[in-house]
Amino acid sequence: MHLPTNPESVFTYGAPQLKFGPGSSDEIGYDLAAYGVRRVLVVTDPGVAATGHPQRVADQMASFGIEAQVYDGTHVEPTDASLQEAVDHARSTGPWDAFVAVGGGSAIDTAKAVDLMTTNPGELLDYVNAPVGGGRAPEHPLAPLVAVPTTTGTGSESTTICVLDVLEQKVKTGISHPRLRPTLAVVDPRLTLTQPAGVTAAAGMDILCHALESWTARPYTSYERKTPEQRVPYCGANPIADMWAEKSLRLLAGSFRTAVLHGDDEEARTQMALAATFAGMGFGNAGVHIPHANAYPVAGRVRDFHPDGYPHDHAMVPHGMAVSLTAPEAFRFTFDADPERHVRAAEMLAPGADRPDDLREMLPAVLTDLMRDIGIPNGLGAVGYGESDVPALVEGTLKQQRLLATAPKEVTEEDAAAILRGSLELW
Ligand SMILES: NC(=O)c1ccc[n+]([C@@H]2O[C@H](COP(=O)([O-])OP(=O)(O)OC[C@H]3O[C@@H](n4cnc5c(N)ncnc54)[C@H](O)[C@@H]3O)[C@@H](O)[C@H]2O)c1
Ligand SMILES: [Zn+2]
Repeated sequence: MHLPTNPESVFTYGAPQLKFGPGSSDEIGYDLAAYGVRRVLVVTDPGVAATGHPQRVADQMASFGIEAQVYDGTHVEPTDASLQEAVDHARSTGPWDAFVAVGGGSAIDTAKAVDLMTTNPGELLDYVNAPVGGGRAPEHPLAPLVAVPTTTGTGSESTTICVLDVLEQKVKTGISHPRLRPTLAVVDPRLTLTQPAGVTAAAGMDILCHALESWTARPYTSYERKTPEQRVPYCGANPIADMWAEKSLRLLAGSFRTAVLHGDDEEARTQMALAATFAGMGFGNAGVHIPHANAYPVAGRVRDFHPDGYPHDHAMVPHGMAVSLTAPEAFRFTFDADPERHVRAAEMLAPGADRPDDLREMLPAVLTDLMRDIGIPNGLGAVGYGESDVPALVEGTLKQQRLLATAPKEVTEEDAAAILRGSLELW
């Protein structure tokens, strides 16, 4: 990696207002009333709608003079088509003064897109990151968005990103702009108790990779100095993001296996909800890198994998699972950039673990032990990919330059191919 001639000396930190704790979702009507809103659209998906949480959130708004309707048409892992459907619904039933997303990353990201497209002109694809879309920035502020996560995973309630699958190009990518950050995040661990074990495992690996990738990301000082208008939400590893990542890793160490194996353990669910929120506050500013860049083609090119705990109406490799499958090999590759950080991460995740002779192997070993225990498939091969898929996956990974820019080492085509090939089987 080249040393900058004029190193960056500035980093930025953004986060939404936050309300955390069991029972916090009972207060959303009160919170929204403070924004003077009258009509609110509650965005969710069919699985979360079946738990009754979204309707409960909608019902308590009436006593604050707010009319709320539930839209449960979110597609699990949104596509450009599903987002457009949600936008069309909101336009034909609007105008809406505010949005409340109750669900996992899928519902929260759908609400971000609906909010964006009902407050700004143009087409959805105009706003999608280049080169897949037009990379346009929203010119108007968005309406208030309250994000209420029901999974412990994405951290989408704190981030400036909306992730979508662009069907025609067989690639996942995002819309990323500070205006997309929710106004208020309401994290109520009780809503996560009904998360199926398979969702808890995959979404939990998403938390873990957010924390690990932001913790090992390229430091903000290693970039050339930016002008104010060039600043992006992802500014590289920095002291504030590091703090959130560390704390998140320690929480995961104590609660992840329990939350998957004993889903009714409210204490473990609360620790996982904190871990997800903390990791979101870290990676939402530092950024993520290689495992996330790989996850986009791994999810986007799926043929017929149907994971437990997810709707069976479409093939999918859930985001957190897709991210985790190449993580052990990616951290073997990034080890040289900062061996000490990789070892410390392994020790935070598995306190008391022995140090192997080859320290490069420590973090991958801690990760694969955990993945085996919580039922993550054994590598890309187990979700349907083979050697012959590697070139297409590499091409998809290299399209994620916005993410690869945060990697602590330059990633060539050969490097990406070696990481993907090494991830076909993990143990
Ligand atoms: N915006 C961001 O910052 C960001 C970051 C990472 C990932 N993502 C995106 O988020 C999406 C994944 O989100 P996710 O992992 O949170 O899961 P999800 O929203 O896709 O939900 C997964 C499944 O779990 C069910 N479910 C969720 N909560 C439940 C509950 N409490 N009880 C019962 N069932 C429940 C849903 O109905 C769904 O079938 C992907 O599209 C991914 O790309 C976004
Ligand atoms: Zn993620």
